[in-house]
Amino acid sequence: MKGIILAGGEGTRLHPITKVTSKQLLPVYNQPMIYFPLQTLLKAGIRDILIIVAPNHSGDFVNLLGSGKQFDARFSYEVQDKPEGLAQAFLIGSDFIGKDDVAMILGDNIFTHDFAPAIKTFKGGAKVFVKEVHDPHRFGIVEFDAMGNVVSIEEKPDNPKSNFAQTGFYIFDKHVVENVKSLKPSSRGELEIVDLAKIYLEKKQLQAEALQGEWIDAGTFESLYKASTIVRENDLGIDLNNFPKLQVQIKDVKKKMFL
Ligand code: DAU
Repeated sequence: MKGIILAGGEGTRLHPITKVTSKQLLPVYNQPMIYFPLQTLLKAGIRDILIIVAPNHSGDFVNLLGSGKQFDARFSYEVQDKPEGLAQAFLIGSDFIGKDDVAMILGDNIFTHDFAPAIKTFKGGAKVFVKEVHDPHRFGIVEFDAMGNVVSIEEKPDNPKSNFAQTGFYIFDKHVVENVKSLKPSSRGELEIVDLAKIYLEKKQLQAEALQGEWIDAGTFESLYKASTIVRENDLGIDLNNFPKLQVQIKDVKKKMFL
C-alpha cells in the first residue's frame, strides 16, 4: 500500500505564525508537526510516501525530510497550488498511486493508534477511522446503525446524527482516482473527502473503525498547545533523527506483518 501525507493548505487559523512557515513544520513540543503523521505511516509499514505541500515553503519540507532513505523509505513530493479539497490529493497523486491501494493522513493529525492491522487486512473499498467528540459540528460525522454499519457521513453538519468524527486517516482502494474524478466541488469550492466516502457508501463498500488512544487535529492554537502537552507528558515524540530507535520499531512492524 502507498501512503500520502497531505500537508498543504494555508493554515489561516494559525496566522500570523503561518505567514512565515507551514503549519505542518511548526513545533509540537520538540519536533516538527509532520514527524507525527510520518511516524504513523512508517510504523504502519508504509514505505512509499507522497508528501503534498503548498507552494510556499515547499523547499523546507525537502530540507527537513529528504529522500526518505534514512528511514528505509522513499519520499516523493508534489505541490498543491491551491487548497481545493482533501480529495484533490488523489488527483495530484494519481501517477504516484497507479494501481495501488492508498492510505492518506492529514499533516496536522497526531495519532497514537496502530494502523498496521487495518492496513494489513484491507481488502478493498474504503475505510475511515472515527473517534467520539464533544463538538461534532466541527468534523465529518459518521452515523451507524445498530449493527455498526455506516448509514451516513456528512461534513460539519448543523444537526449531527452522531458524535463520531471522521479523523484524518483514510484508506482507499485502487479505484480512488476514478471515483474522485466523478466528484463535483462543494459549495465551498472543494473536492470533499466525505463526498468521496459517500461514493463507497452507496456501493456498500465503506467501513469505519473506532480509534484507540489519542487523536489531535493540531490546526488551531488551542489544539496545537494541547498537542504539545500530550506529546511531552506521554513521551510520544519519537526522534526520527534518532534512526536506530526508529529502526527497531520498523523491524517490529515488519515482523508483525511478516514483511
Ligand atoms: O481533522 C479531521 C477533519 O478534517 C475531518 O473530520 C473532516 O471531515 C475533514 O474535512 C477535515 O476537516 P478540517 O476542517 O480539519 O479540514 P481543513 O480544511 O482544516 O484541512 C485539514 C488539513 O488538510 C489541514 O492541515 C490543511 C490540509 N489541506 C486542506 C485542504 C482543504 C490541504 O493540504 N489541502 C486542501 O486542499
